[in-house]
This record gives sequence, C-alpha cells and structure tokens, in this order.
Amino acid sequence: MEDPITNDLSLKTIEWKNNKVIMIDQTKLPNDLVFVEYDDYNQVADAIKTLVVRGAPAIGISGAFGLALAVLQSKATTKDELLSDLGKARKILFETRPTAVNLGWGLEKIINVAKLGDSVEQIKEQVVNEAKKMADEDIEINKTMGKNGSVLFDDNDTIMTHCNAGALATVAYGTALGVIRATRESGKNIKVIATETRPVQQGSRLTAFELKHDGFDVSLIPDTAVGYTMANGLVNKVIVGADRIVKTGHVFNKIGTYQIAIMAKQHGIPFYVAAPLSTFDMETKVEDVIIEMRKGSEVTGIGDKKTAPDDINVINPAFDITPPELISGIITEKGVAKSPYEESIKKLFEAN
Ligand code: MRU
Repeated sequence: MEDPITNDLSLKTIEWKNNKVIMIDQTKLPNDLVFVEYDDYNQVADAIKTLVVRGAPAIGISGAFGLALAVLQSKATTKDELLSDLGKARKILFETRPTAVNLGWGLEKIINVAKLGDSVEQIKEQVVNEAKKMADEDIEINKTMGKNGSVLFDDNDTIMTHCNAGALATVAYGTALGVIRATRESGKNIKVIATETRPVQQGSRLTAFELKHDGFDVSLIPDTAVGYTMANGLVNKVIVGADRIVKTGHVFNKIGTYQIAIMAKQHGIPFYVAAPLSTFDMETKVEDVIIEMRKGSEVTGIGDKKTAPDDINVINPAFDITPPELISGIITEKGVAKSPYEESIKKLFEAN
C-alpha cells in the first residue's frame, strides 16, 4: 500500500479525510486490514478504550482528531458555548486511558488553539488545521528520531522489540520501529525479534504483521523466551517505545518491558527507548503516574478460548516502570539522552 505522505510502504494508522477520522481497526489485525470511519468524538473515545487505536503517539493524535470532530459536531453559536462543548469532549476523551501522557498532550494543544480563536467559525477551522498539522508532524518527528537512533545500531544486528511501537502506534513510521526502519534505510542489514507481548499480543498481532508487511526479517518469540534468546547470543540490542517518561528517566511502557531491561542488563545487551518529547511528563512524580489495570478476561483466555479456571483472581497491569539505570539511551527527535538522565532530559527540552 503506497502511502502519499510517507512515500513508503509503511502503514498509515490514523488520518483525517473529508471531516472524518479514518483508522486501521487494530483489533482485527493480523487477519484483516480493516479501516473504520468516525464522525463523532464519542466513537473515537470508544476506539481508544477498546484498542481499535493504541500506542501513545497514536492515542495523542486520536485525542486531537476527536476534538476536531467535537468542534464540527457542536451547535454552539458563541465562543464560550463552543469552548464548553470542547471541554465536555475533552473530559470524555481524556478518561479513556490513563497512562500514555500523549493523550493529555494532544488534547491540551487543541484546547489552547481553540482558546485563541475569535469566532466560532474561526475556531472550528483552526482546530481542524491544528489536528491535521499534529498528525503530519508526528511522521516528521518519527523520521528524525529514526535518524538520531540509527547510528546506535550496527550492520548485522539482531534487535529485540516489545509490544508495538511502530507505524501502528503512531500516525506512521513508528518510534522504536522507526529507528529500526531508519537503520535499514541507512544501508545496514538487520534482523528483528518481536516478543508476542501477552496478554493482548500487540507484538505478534501488530509488530510481526507490520514488519512482515514492510519486508523485514522478523522472528516472533513467546515473552518467556527473552532470557533464552539473550543467553544464546541471538540478540545484540533492544529497543522499545514508551507511554510516559518522567524527568528522572523512569520509563512507563507495556507490561514486560521492565523484565526485558533486567535481562538485557544481565547479558550486557544495550537497552534503548525511543520516544518523542510529547511522551515526556516533566511534572508528575514517578509514584503518582496511574498504571492502567485491565480486565481479567484478557489473561484468563486467548481469543474466545478459556485458558484459566472460572473465578480466578487476576492481576493485569497494562504497563510497568523501567528505572533509568537499566537504560542505555533515550532516543528522541532532539537527540539521545544518556545517564545522568535528569540532566540530559532537561537539556533536550532546553534545545527545543
Ligand atoms: O496498550 P498499548 O498497546 O497502547 O501499549 C502501547 C505501548 O506500550 C507502546 O510500547 C508505547 O505506547 C509506545 S508506542 C510508540
């Protein structure tokens, strides 16, 4: 599928077309590549909640597009009424998922643009334009991040990744998989190992699908084979995305990231994180970030098949925290932060 914006074969996850939001329905992958079309922000909120769209940057842009739909849906005749409608939509969109900071970032950016407008018509136009611009910028940022990260990877590396931090987690190109794409584009021959990422299987359903779709040499492993592959010299480097990075360099990402980082440390394998500045939260303390807890049925079954006894207690956190001492570098569009992270992250923002 040739993409008009990225000019490559990478998937386009979310798009604004004819005043509607078009998304790949990620719950249907890898079996069906289905696009859904929304003209109501409540549908976008549902899509975020039910993982039709997921991945921190894609959620951020979905929030912005959700508000763009909200201004078009509004019957307001004054700026105050429109801002009040927008505030209601913002609340509904914000409450869909708690951990990825990009959601609040995307919503806030749009609300700030709306506040600057004078008339209802002007606000509507400016909000839609800003959301579209944010989506285009997401691709550019990923490409820059990719270039910044590609120098850290060598010819013939086998790179492990977890969850999906690819085109499917962004508008296109990806963060961690963006670095992998840029490494290949720089002429290096690389292989990828994707963990299946239980319980929702973003690794096998999405990363394996996306990388195969784009012609990468990718092998799928069960999450439990991370130690085996590292101990047997099958992995040279690890790269993952992030849902939120706080100023100390603690990285919130898909459940299982932390144990991969520990395992990488044990085997002397560099462990990198790739994330745009919109994934950094310089305000919230690590202990105050809400980790999303998901329903037990994701763990007690695979698809429609039950794999656990009835009424079993389940602990199903969607994310965990990787401490900075396990991280070899955090790749952003402004450069690569290295230990001591508090200082180097601050510098990235100063350069912004
Ligand atoms: O629950 P998900 O699928 O939204 O979780 C996604 C992840 O954890 C990704 O690794 C993260 O959002 C980075 S995506 C560029």
